[in-house]
Amino acid sequence: GFEVVLKKSGQRFEIAPGKTILDTLLDHQVDVQYSCSAGVCGTCRTGVIDGQPDHRDDYLTDEEKRENRSIMVCCSGARSKTLVLDL
Ligand code: FES
Repeated sequence: GFEVVLKKSGQRFEIAPGKTILDTLLDHQVDVQYSCSAGVCGTCRTGVIDGQPDHRDDYLTDEEKRENRSIMVCCSGARSKTLVLDL
């Protein structure tokens, strides 16, 4: 697992193995937009403030994935222990 920190609210959530960031945010009533839940529509795009995403979507370009400035929270994970999101 890894930890997600929400920049604006200061909330921190442990993402359990097998759970997505999106699932965990929704479990805690965090207001995130989503649609496909499969990494293709782009709706759940979320800004990354700090940390290293493990991009598993088919939406961001390779260059965007390298820049690590956004993550598709419905399907991607983290390579770092912590991800700070612009939420
Ligand atoms: Fe469609 Fe995440 S909800 S890419």
